[in-house]
Amino acid sequence: MSEFFRVCKVSDLRAGEGKRFLIDDVEVAVFLVDGKIFALGNVCPHQKAARIYEGFIEDRKVVCPLHGWTFNLSDGRQEGNRRGLESYEVKVENNEVYVKVLKKELNW
Ligand code: FES
Repeated sequence: MSEFFRVCKVSDLRAGEGKRFLIDDVEVAVFLVDGKIFALGNVCPHQKAARIYEGFIEDRKVVCPLHGWTFNLSDGRQEGNRRGLESYEVKVENNEVYVKVLKKELNW
């Protein structure tokens, strides 16, 4: 089951820079670009580095700072529509940013 988790205030985000959050053990990178907020998985599929939040933004894409793999901010996919990062739904309410991730359920 997915649910929205509050991560920060809109004013905590800086245009063109990523921020890293751990939501229920899920690494998420949140970006504010052109006035829109995007949330992607923070772990690069290339070498499993949790550094996507440090990537630079180019043409509505984020470029991994380690070896330059590039992911679309809106859906996390790579060039040629190849699978890349997870993409998470974002909502803003009362200046607070919420990201929807899959909630872990423990069934003992
Ligand atoms: S770890 Fe991201 S491109 Fe290599």
